Amino acid sequence: MHKIKTAVLISGRGSNMLAILKAAQDNEYPAVVEVVISNRPLAKGLEKAEDLGIKTLILDHKAYKSKSEFEKDLDEILKNLRIQLICCAGFMRILSPWFVNRWKGKLLNIHPSLLPKYKGLNTHKRAINSGDIIHGCSVHFINSELDSGKVILQKRIKILEDDTPQTLSERLLVKELEAYPQALKIVADELISSKKTI
Ligand code: GRF
Repeated sequence: MHKIKTAVLISGRGSNMLAILKAAQDNEYPAVVEVVISNRPLAKGLEKAEDLGIKTLILDHKAYKSKSEFEKDLDEILKNLRIQLICCAGFMRILSPWFVNRWKGKLLNIHPSLLPKYKGLNTHKRAINSGDIIHGCSVHFINSELDSGKVILQKRIKILEDDTPQTLSERLLVKELEAYPQALKIVADELISSKKTI
């Protein structure tokens, strides 16, 4: 079975990354994770990926003079590995229009809100403070505006009366871990079928 070569970009604990890696262990899953790249040397997710035998790389953005030099190296690594899709999973760098355009339609992200609501940070707190009764997460394509690209899939949960940002984020994470592998499957399946029709 032809599988789409995928890279996962992380900065931290890597639970979404792990959900993708586990889903990709299934023979029928249309994507294979070739590499996990972290911009933070101490990201907890690196160890989790290594435990599953996945290649990891550290690309410390602080070691670069500029964002463009960091992104040029990232781009080169991804091209050399023949990566076809990139999943940002808790990757805390805003990518420049240059990078986003190069990977247009191939760059996914997960955001803990029902976009277009609550772009940016502190989404759980903002949902609670607004009196919302439903919260959720969105897997979306990245475009050059923050958290604004086309949504691929969303999952919803109820906000409970006694929810705090912490409890809400913990319950939402369970949904995120379902959403990202499902969304990646949708995009990878589409990519495979579009190649078949060329
Ligand atoms: C997730 O809540 C994701 O929605 C947000 O950052 C968090 C990353 O968590 N973008 P993890 O690194 O996947 O555990």
